[in-house]
Amino acid sequence: MTVVVLLGAPGAGKGTQAPVLARHLGVPVLASGDLLRAAVTAGTALGLEADRYMSRGQLVPDHTIVRIFLDQLKGAEAAAAGAILDGFPRTRAQAVALDAALTEHGDRVDHALYIEVPLEELVARMASRRICAANGHVYNVATNPPQVPDRCDLDGSPLIQRPDDQESTVRARMAQQVPPLEEVADHYRSAGILRTVDGRLPIDPVSDALIAALDATSGGVRTGEARRAH
Ligand code: AP5
Repeated sequence: MTVVVLLGAPGAGKGTQAPVLARHLGVPVLASGDLLRAAVTAGTALGLEADRYMSRGQLVPDHTIVRIFLDQLKGAEAAAAGAILDGFPRTRAQAVALDAALTEHGDRVDHALYIEVPLEELVARMASRRICAANGHVYNVATNPPQVPDRCDLDGSPLIQRPDDQESTVRARMAQQVPPLEEVADHYRSAGILRTVDGRLPIDPVSDALIAALDATSGGVRTGEARRAH
């Protein structure tokens, strides 16, 4: 089992890079934002609660997200192979809860990769971001446009703007979410597994740098089986 935590401020490129890393390692992506948006669309009790926070750019409370995210991690594919975690953990309490859940099974976070981008570039990126209505595939009208305008290359569904990509909400997300993100980065820095990558580069060089960071440290990664055998 290989568990990779992908860190970055809102708009840093986590959703763009997570599928690339997932293909490289042969593991699924678990994205907390996608999970919450699906609940909002379905109108579940969780979705109604989450929407109150997401629409204001605030983090959903730890007690709500930890339970549902860790349930996803117990899913068959992730439990066997591991996963790329996009958007979780976002606070130190979430990081501690993740460590505890993995330790129960003799596992751990193997890599924490931090995509760093300056704030003003993030605000501009999110103004031109579009996602597909069906599956949340990520585009950018300036830096990563679809082949056919306003249509997803992968599933043909229409491209839409996320409601929380309005500039005022983006700035609220930055102000409220970057300080706890830095605490999460410190958590993994202390554990000696944090690697930072320059997210100002174009998408492909960022992918290359993330894969190089994974491969450079994978020699020290033991599988869940090997770890449990100790
Ligand atoms: P979530 O969906 O996770 O949003 P986020 O972390 O704010 O991240 P984004 O999805 O906005 O950005 P990204 O880093 O994935 O960038 P992307 O690849 O799209 O969470 C949404 C909300 O849910 C949160 O605000 C919170 O309320 C709640 N939530 C989620 N998880 C939670 C948790 N654990 N705890 C509590 N609350 C939680 O790229 C952005 C744009 O830039 C795209 O247009 C892309 O094409 C473009 N781009 C990407 N890379 C590059 C590049 N290298 N150069 C140029 N353009 C690029």
